[in-house]
Amino acid sequence: MNPFEGRVALVTGAASGIGAALAVALHAAGAKVVLADIDGEGARRQAMAIGADADTAVTLDVTDRSLFASVVTATVERHGRIDYLFNNAGIAIVGNTLAMEGNDWDRLLDVNIRGVVHGVEAVYPLMVKQQLLGGWRGHIVNTASISGLIPAPGFTAYAMTKHAVVGLSLSLREEARRYGVRVSAICPSVIGTPMAEHAQLLGDSVPVKDKVQGFVRLPGADYCARKALKGVRRNRALIPVTPAAHIGWRLYRLWPGLLRPVTRRLADTLAPMAASLGAPTGQRER
Ligand SMILES: NC(=O)c1ccc[n+]([C@@H]2O[C@H](COP(=O)([O-])OP(=O)(O)OC[C@H]3O[C@@H](n4cnc5c(N)ncnc54)[C@H](O)[C@@H]3O)[C@@H](O)[C@H]2O)c1
Repeated sequence: MNPFEGRVALVTGAASGIGAALAVALHAAGAKVVLADIDGEGARRQAMAIGADADTAVTLDVTDRSLFASVVTATVERHGRIDYLFNNAGIAIVGNTLAMEGNDWDRLLDVNIRGVVHGVEAVYPLMVKQQLLGGWRGHIVNTASISGLIPAPGFTAYAMTKHAVVGLSLSLREEARRYGVRVSAICPSVIGTPMAEHAQLLGDSVPVKDKVQGFVRLPGADYCARKALKGVRRNRALIPVTPAAHIGWRLYRLWPGLLRPVTRRLADTLAPMAASLGAPTGQRER
């Protein structure tokens, strides 16, 4: 059975990358997709590219609580219900935590945490009240990251936001179960999207991808969306998506120290010990 056929799905961050690929896959599976993005024009282009009506695209800054609520209200007025909310919009800031400024922390908190909270606030009560369809009332799918499950030096602040998204998803899942509302978190490793393509280390003009070997072999957004929807279909709590994420998560659960060589290398590459940041160099705790 296809659980997406005829269902209504609201996808945030749908103009690009994983969100755009989710919109394509959901539309192909027969869902009515509302594509929401701060880049409203990009969302409209994406809607037209997948053969959906241009007016299924909306401009939405997920940091704006009342705007999110009004997009949800408009979606229900138009389609009668919301079966899936894909809280996918997100940003990344990468580099040495010593180089983070107040505004960097605030942006990450606003988009990656508050943006998800605003979606849950607007959609969860509505899902609880809407009619059961096929044995469930709704499914909230939050895009977290493998860095929401394991340590990610160089992505420290980003990882904090994704751990928050995982915590929210796992706890709400248990609370919402009794109402027939499902909650899942998608946890990919690095995916070849504009976010990954253009990411730069704080205070550095060289793209991260040029610093990390093997970056060119990243899985694409289409692959990520396909695997993510497979996990959603099976109502998995955590959906690690990629082989690297599956392996990293299993190793970390088995024995956290097993990942130390990887995290040390990540720290050296993405958060190098730079004297310019006022930190001592050449010292390392084992
Ligand atoms: N690409 C990766 O390696 C990777 C890995 C793990 C998790 N993720 C997560 O996947 C999600 C999608 O990332 P992506 O790689 O597709 O990135 P992307 O940059 O290609 O797409 C992100 C989209 O979110 C939109 N967006 C940004 N801020 C917004 C806001 N305030 N309101 C609404 N829309 C906003 C952007 O306009 C863009 O269209 C993010 O939550 C990201 O953290 C990405």
